[in-house]
Amino acid sequence: MSNRTLNLTDPLYDYVLAHSLREHPAQTALRDATRGHERATMQIAPEQGQFMAMLVKLTGARNTIEIGVFTGYSALSVALALPADGRILACDISDEYTRIGKPFWAQAGIADKIDLRLGPALARRR
Ligand SMILES: C[S@@+](CC[C@H](N)C(=O)[O-])C[C@H]1O[C@@H](n2cnc3c(N)ncnc32)[C@H](O)[C@@H]1O
Repeated sequence: MSNRTLNLTDPLYDYVLAHSLREHPAQTALRDATRGHERATMQIAPEQGQFMAMLVKLTGARNTIEIGVFTGYSALSVALALPADGRILACDISDEYTRIGKPFWAQAGIADKIDLRLGPALARRR
């Protein structure tokens, strides 16, 4: 896991972001809000979020599961790519982390697509 793609020089990574990353303003704002967090390196890379969104669109997914939300960047990326009736079952054990992302989900207008469950993800298998 890394919050940037590995094995790229800084100039090449900057080029990738400048020329291929298309973020919703709420995604950019959520990355900014997470940057100073003591566990910020847990956040996925923005290009990974964009890749996940592409997979959602390519597969026509309507329902997805996320295990490990942190501040919600990947959930936001997937929710933006899902159709209007799409849903994410999102699991995390931390209210402290996940509540950081909720205002940005609302800002993007996709909060109703994310069903956040707090608790160990495995415990949901019943
Ligand atoms: C690498 S971070 C997830 C990054 C996130 N997908 C993002 O886009 O920023 C891992 C997350 O898993 C959560 N976690 C750890 N153990 C868990 C468990 N048993 N069930 C659900 N979530 C868990 C942690 O609280 C943490 O927020």
